[in-house]
Amino acid sequence: MKEIYLLGATGSIGQQTLEIIRANPHDFILKGASANDNLKLLIKIVEEFHPEVISVKDEMQKEVLETLFPKITIFIGEEGLTKLAAYNPDRDITLINALVGMVGLKPTLAAIKIDRNVLLANKETLVVGGHLIKEALKNSSAKIYPIDSEHSAIWQALNGEGINTVKRLIITASGGAFRDLTRDELKKVNVKEALNHPNWSMGNKITIDSATMINKGFEIIEACYLFDIDIDQVEAIIHKESIIHSMVEFNDGSVMAQIADHDMRLPIHYAMYYPKRKPSIANKFDLMRLNNLHFSPLDINRYPCLGYAIEAFKKGGSLRTVLNSANEVAVKLFLEEKISFLDIETIIKKEIDSHKIISNPTIDEIYAIDKEIKDRIYQQY
Ligand SMILES: NC(=O)c1ccc[n+]([C@@H]2O[C@H](COP(=O)([O-])OP(=O)(O)OC[C@H]3O[C@@H](n4cnc5c(N)ncnc54)[C@H](OP(=O)(O)O)[C@@H]3O)[C@@H](O)[C@H]2O)c1
Repeated sequence: MKEIYLLGATGSIGQQTLEIIRANPHDFILKGASANDNLKLLIKIVEEFHPEVISVKDEMQKEVLETLFPKITIFIGEEGLTKLAAYNPDRDITLINALVGMVGLKPTLAAIKIDRNVLLANKETLVVGGHLIKEALKNSSAKIYPIDSEHSAIWQALNGEGINTVKRLIITASGGAFRDLTRDELKKVNVKEALNHPNWSMGNKITIDSATMINKGFEIIEACYLFDIDIDQVEAIIHKESIIHSMVEFNDGSVMAQIADHDMRLPIHYAMYYPKRKPSIANKFDLMRLNNLHFSPLDINRYPCLGYAIEAFKKGGSLRTVLNSANEVAVKLFLEEKISFLDIETIIKKEIDSHKIISNPTIDEIYAIDKEIKDRIYQQY
């Protein structure tokens, strides 16, 4: 029986993780959970799964929950997420990080510090603090396992082979909500259209990140850290059916691909059961769908945010924080209908062009830069 602490239990990945726990009560038990705005759903989760510890947004939420569940330990705020991640350090608990945004970085570091394995959906953690995570893993027995369909595909296709046998990693991209629109047509798109992803049902931020294609840039960065590979060996291509979730081309010319229906419960399930393979509740794959697969190159001129992500990774240091922080605010402003879709890329470009890079930023420097950038952008809109 694996004990699970789940950060971001109320989100898209969080809810799908709970489906897996619900379907496999002899293998998993939810011992900890967190939420931010969705208190109602957190209450339902506590009623169903009876975790012993939770983390909530603020004191007001804590008071509500204390009255309802007097026996539960309750933490609050960002600090609470970190406390939860490292709670009960002597117990063999797995942390699942399904938070959105760089708020996931400190909890991940806290878990690694106490040798706790982390199943990581929260890609912003690696974009912003990949160097800190890598360093922390050197002094820890903890492992990081990816919960992202592309990285799960690469992980499975590699099947334990050394990275020195790999020629390229090929990450597939659906193309997002606007894949068939011209740059000119992008000027007029609205929030509702941007949230209408053709293949996946996900949280709002990653859905917008898929439409701008910065998400693919984040995934390239994630792959570099997770698999210790040079960025020039990672390529992204458009594959609009999202059936091949990524590929590994080995140096002998063989290409291994992972193929499955687009259902996030499969990569979550794979990471939760790893190193075992078990029957899953994910949708079954219809082989006939292989008859009609399409691939095309990904054009950086069409998707400038992908180029900014690659630039930020190559130039390195604090520029990765700038990329992420500017994107987090810009996406929020777009979702609030305060800026247009194309303003997202303009805001990111302005911030990365004017930033003086600090190499290997500390956690405090990362948070200071994040605050400075978010404050500056908010003041403008
Ligand atoms: N969804 C997917 O299919 C998918 C696939 C691959 C990777 N990912 C990655 O997985 C992560 C989660 O994505 P998602 O789609 O599940 O996001 P989501 O649906 O927006 O859920 C995010 C979760 O984080 C919580 N949260 C948000 N801001 C917070 C804050 N400041 N402090 C504490 N908790 C906060 C939310 O709580 P409330 O809801 O209570 O406010 C929610 O539980 C992202 O990094 C995403 O890129 C997602």
